[in-house]
Amino acid sequence: MKDELILSGSGGVSLRPWRLSDAPALGELLSNKKLQDNLRDGLPYPYTAEDGESYISSMLKGDKNKLFAFAIVLGDKLAGSIGAFRQSNIHSRTAELGYYVGESFWGRGVGTTAVKLLCRHVFETTDILRIYAEPFATNAASCRVLEKSGFRFEGTLRQNAVKNGNILDMHMYSLLKKL
Ligand SMILES: CC(C)(COP(=O)(O)OP(=O)(O)OC[C@H]1O[C@@H](n2cnc3c(N)ncnc32)[C@H](O)[C@@H]1OP(=O)(O)O)[C@@H](O)C(=O)NCCC(=O)NCCS
Repeated sequence: MKDELILSGSGGVSLRPWRLSDAPALGELLSNKKLQDNLRDGLPYPYTAEDGESYISSMLKGDKNKLFAFAIVLGDKLAGSIGAFRQSNIHSRTAELGYYVGESFWGRGVGTTAVKLLCRHVFETTDILRIYAEPFATNAASCRVLEKSGFRFEGTLRQNAVKNGNILDMHMYSLLKKL
């Protein structure tokens, strides 16, 4: 696509803006219990191409100063989703990071490369000072991705979520812009 912002990383992983044509592949990635078990509630299961289209449209229409959302691609295949979302009020220079990688792509460095690329982009192109993520304490793979990407573990948010009927702690990780 002409004039599309592509962020390229190692191992053939890149981030690019969402395209409506990604919707069927997004539906396949997200119709996965193991993946959804590590995300917040609210995603339909199974996740259809129509659900994908409505998510992608909302990302494409979103405020470009508040929402930094990209498709993660490996070669020419959709491998996942990543976004940083600016917070409000006194936290307006803080962004929350969210991401997932399709199960067939796990363990190949895709998540880590995507997190590094997005954080660098956000710090280089916006006034955001702090990017944080809150994986469930049980989500060792996500904690590892954040550690490999230079995030610092700041502490445990005890009994901070109920997921599938289980009371879970969450881990607070952050990465700061170098001032
Ligand atoms: C978390 C997730 C994004 C990781 O993606 P990925 O592309 O597999 O990540 P990477 O390959 O870059 O790194 C994964 C790391 O976790 C490690 N890991 C994976 N499963 C693990 C486990 N059960 N225990 C400990 N470490 C584990 C891997 O060995 C690897 O570390 P290494 O390079 O030191 O060996 C992916 O598993 C996913 O989408 N999970 C479901 C959704 C999710 O958890 N999103 C994040 C919400 S905060």
